[in-house]
Amino acid sequence: MHPIPPPYLTRRGFIKTTGAAGLVAGMPMLAAPEARSESAPAQAVAEPAHSSSASPQPAADTLRALASKKGLLLGTAFCHEAFRNDPGYGGVLAREFNCLVAENSMKLCDIQPERGAFDFTVPDAMMTFAAAHDMQARAVPLVWHDALPPWAEGKTFPRQEALAILREHIFTVMKHFRGRICAWDVLNEGLSDSGPGLREEGPWFHSIGSNYVEEIYHLAHEADPQALLFYNDYAMDGMSDKADRCYLWLKELLARGVPIHGVGLQYHVKLEQHPDPADVTRNIRRLNDLGLSVHITELDVWLPAQSTAEHLHQQAAVYRGVIETALAARKCPVVMLWGFTDRYSWVPGTSGGTYDQALIFDSDYHPKPAYAAIAAALS
Ligand code: XIL
Repeated sequence: MHPIPPPYLTRRGFIKTTGAAGLVAGMPMLAAPEARSESAPAQAVAEPAHSSSASPQPAADTLRALASKKGLLLGTAFCHEAFRNDPGYGGVLAREFNCLVAENSMKLCDIQPERGAFDFTVPDAMMTFAAAHDMQARAVPLVWHDALPPWAEGKTFPRQEALAILREHIFTVMKHFRGRICAWDVLNEGLSDSGPGLREEGPWFHSIGSNYVEEIYHLAHEADPQALLFYNDYAMDGMSDKADRCYLWLKELLARGVPIHGVGLQYHVKLEQHPDPADVTRNIRRLNDLGLSVHITELDVWLPAQSTAEHLHQQAAVYRGVIETALAARKCPVVMLWGFTDRYSWVPGTSGGTYDQALIFDSDYHPKPAYAAIAAALS
């Protein structure tokens, strides 16, 4: 199990072809992912807004219907450019998934491109689609060292100013989406990759100091006391050194009363380096033991660019293992894929073309073996 190293080579160059009780009391939630019940009723599969060229399964057998029967939120990253331009995209999205997350449009560079000026256009379009199709939504990320707009990139602010910036950002965004987001990734990728301590890149660590983490969780809790607040990171899906460090760090933050309710395991894995499901199970169990919920937040399984039928079958087994692990866990009620069709995936760009085909539909929206494997895990 080895991490896929950052940095992400592209920021927006993602398109291969073109380049809690319930969740939160009072939330209009359809499923109850923080309190999964095997007898949860299946969700109706809403009519897609877009036409779909691919309808491989009758409605009762869609991944969405199967996941909903298990009380699992099975979601995907939402690629707005594809949604807007590709008539095949929205239909598959609504048919197969019951949860969405914006792939890019809620990151600081997109949602606050000018300091103090917020642009909700794209995430609002996603939320409208989600509401129209009875889908839930996660939100990522409120604070990250990456995806910064020019006004923040490479900057260090006086401490009070940095805190004021984050306060305004967190309050404005959380209030805008209040009651409609089942989990917020407050901090993304805050831990160092190379050793103990926090990642120091980006403006927030240097401007505020290492206690910026507790500050932002308290701000998020103040902005919306009902919201579920997550920490999200990669290379800690199984029992890695980083997973150990994360576990101890979260334990300490919880002991200090920092309002953190869950952990997002990104689960970007290469076929040849994916973690042993038994290790993922152990990792989830110890996080659950801390009282934390776990969500798989960005699952994709990278294949070598020149992949074979055998690779596709091995990939299917990895997807199946993740779903089975989540279902067997005490509290892992959400699995989000980082996209669903190889037509739109960050993998070729970020890997410099050495990896591809990480998702469960091919570039023509045909289901790959991984699709059937997930369906089998959910059946
Ligand atoms: C990626 C997007 O998929 C790309 O389109 C973008 O160019 C870079 O960011 N971990 C994260 C996600 O938390 O936000 C990243 O998304 C993938 C890795």
